[in-house]
Amino acid sequence: MAFKIGEVYKISNRYLEVIHNKDIFSKPVSSVKGLHIVGMLNSYVSIPLFNSQNAIGIIFEQLEPAKERDILFDPKTESIISKIRLIGTFNLINQKFKRGLDFFPVLDSDVFTIEEKELEAIYKSSIKPDLPTLELGCDIFFEQIKINADPNVLFGKHCAVFGNTGSGKSCTVTSILQGIYHNKNRLHNAKNKNLKTIIIDSNDEYSEIFNENEVKPDWVILKDYTELELSHKDLSFYELTQLLQEDSPNVIPYLKEAVMTLKNTTNVDDKIYYEFSQLQIKIEEAVPLDKNGKKDNFTIGFLKHIINRIKHFSSDERFNSVFNKQGNSIEDFLNSKTEQVLILSLRVPNDTLALFVYMISKSIFHYKYNTANKQKDNILLVLEEAHRYIATTSTDQLNNYYIDKLAREGRKFGVNLMISTQRPSEVSNTVISQCNSLIVHKITNSKDLDFIKNTIEYDDKSQIDLLSGLKQQQALVLGEAFAFSSLIKIADANPLPHSETPKIFTND
Ligand SMILES: Nc1ncnc2c1ncn2[C@@H]1O[C@H](COP(=O)(O)OP(=O)(O)O)[C@@H](O)[C@H]1O
Ligand SMILES: [Mg+2]
Repeated sequence: MAFKIGEVYKISNRYLEVIHNKDIFSKPVSSVKGLHIVGMLNSYVSIPLFNSQNAIGIIFEQLEPAKERDILFDPKTESIISKIRLIGTFNLINQKFKRGLDFFPVLDSDVFTIEEKELEAIYKSSIKPDLPTLELGCDIFFEQIKINADPNVLFGKHCAVFGNTGSGKSCTVTSILQGIYHNKNRLHNAKNKNLKTIIIDSNDEYSEIFNENEVKPDWVILKDYTELELSHKDLSFYELTQLLQEDSPNVIPYLKEAVMTLKNTTNVDDKIYYEFSQLQIKIEEAVPLDKNGKKDNFTIGFLKHIINRIKHFSSDERFNSVFNKQGNSIEDFLNSKTEQVLILSLRVPNDTLALFVYMISKSIFHYKYNTANKQKDNILLVLEEAHRYIATTSTDQLNNYYIDKLAREGRKFGVNLMISTQRPSEVSNTVISQCNSLIVHKITNSKDLDFIKNTIEYDDKSQIDLLSGLKQQQALVLGEAFAFSSLIKIADANPLPHSETPKIFTND
C-alpha cells in the first residue's frame, strides 16, 4: 500500500524537491521480501497528477534544508528535502507505464511511496513485445519484479562488471552466461543466438559453470595454458622486436637474418613456423670472428640482451602456448560448427597473461576483419580480472593495441567485450569508456568511485554514493542495455564458479 511521504515544494527543469519529515524513515513498509524502509535514496515515488496519471520519480539526493530555509518551517519539525528525478507516468486506467512526462506535478502535490503494480509496470515497460530480453535479476526489495536487459545492447555494445573482491563479479558473469546458454527461462524472444564466447578465466573459476549434472556439455571447450595454442608465427617482425624489447640498429639485422633463415623466406613477416629456441643459435652463429679466430666479444656483448630475452621466452614452460606451438586455438574454436564456449583457464603471471590476451585479441580481430568471416557468429570476449593484463599504464612489451582496437571498432563486425574488474580506474581507459552498460557491485575504493562517477551520465552520478552499501550479489545497473538505472539482485548463479577466496576455517 502506498502512503504519503511528503509534498512537492520546489519544481525546476531538471528535478523536483520534496519536503518530508525525517520520521518517514521509521515507517517501514512490507513487501514480499519483508519490511523495508521507504523514502530512501534511490527509491521510487509516485505523485498523482490531475489526469488519472501518476508521475513517477526516483529520489536521487537528500539534504537537510539550508539554514535560511529553516525559518520557513516549524523549527521543531525535523524536515528533510529529497530531490526527485521524474522518469515517466503511470496510467491508472490502462495500468501502463510510459517514459517521459506530458504534465508536471504542481507545487504542494502529495508525494507517495510507489505501489507494487506501478513498479511492475515500470519494469514491464522495459520488455518490448517480440524483442529479445535477458532477465538479469530482480528488484532488491521486490523479488517478483524481474529486471531485464536488452541482450543485443548488453553484448552488442560492450559491458563491464565492477566491484570489490567478493562482491559478486564472477557470479554475475556466470549468471549472465548461464542465462544465455542454459535454458533457464531467462532469455525471451530469442530463438537463435549467434554468439560464441571466449572466457579469459585468470583465476580458474569458470571450468564447471555450464556443467549439467556435473557433466560438461560438448559445446563447452576447456583449455589451460598447456593446451592453448597461439603460435609465435602469427607475430609480425615488428611485434617480435617489441616482445624482445629490442630496437637497436646494431641488433635488429641479426634478428632479422636469423628469422628469415629459420623461416627460409625473404619476407620476414611470412607466417611460417620455426623453432623459437633456434633463434638464439642462429644469432650466435652469425657473430663474426675476431683476429684470433674466436667469436667477437664486443658483438656478443651487445647481443646479450636479445639472447636473454629469447631464453626467457623459450625456457619458461608457461610461454609454451606461444613459443612451442604451431596452431591457433582461437581460430579453431571460431571455425568450429559445434563449439560455443571456450573457457581458457590461464592461471599464469600477469605478463604471461598479457601476452596471451594480446595474441587472442589479435586472432579475434583478424578472424572477424576477414570479410569471409564477417557474417559468422558474434563473439563475446569475457575478460575476468582485466586490470591484471589490460592496465592503463601498460608496462608490457605488447601493449593493449588489439584490445583497444576491439573496444573501439569491434562492434562494427560483431566482437563484444565483457570486462570484469575490481579496479576500474586501472584498466585501459579506451576499453572502459567504450562500455555502454555497467553492472556495479559494492565498491569502496575512492579512486575507483570517482572514476566511475566520471564515466557515467550526469543523472546517474548521485547513485554512486549507494555503492559502498551494497551486499553480495546486489548491483547498480546503468546504461543503455537497461530501461533505467536501478538497484538489482542478480539472478543466482548455478553451478557457482569456484570462488577464489579459500576458507581458512571450515567445518567439513
Ligand atoms: N549471483 C550470485 N549467485 C549466487 N551466489 C552469489 C551470487 N553473487 C555472489 N554470490 C556469493 O558471493 C560470493 C562471492 O562472489 P564472487 O562472484 O566470487 O565475487 P568476486 O568475483 O567479485 O570476487 C560467492 O562465492 C557466492 O557465495
Ligand atoms: Mg571473481
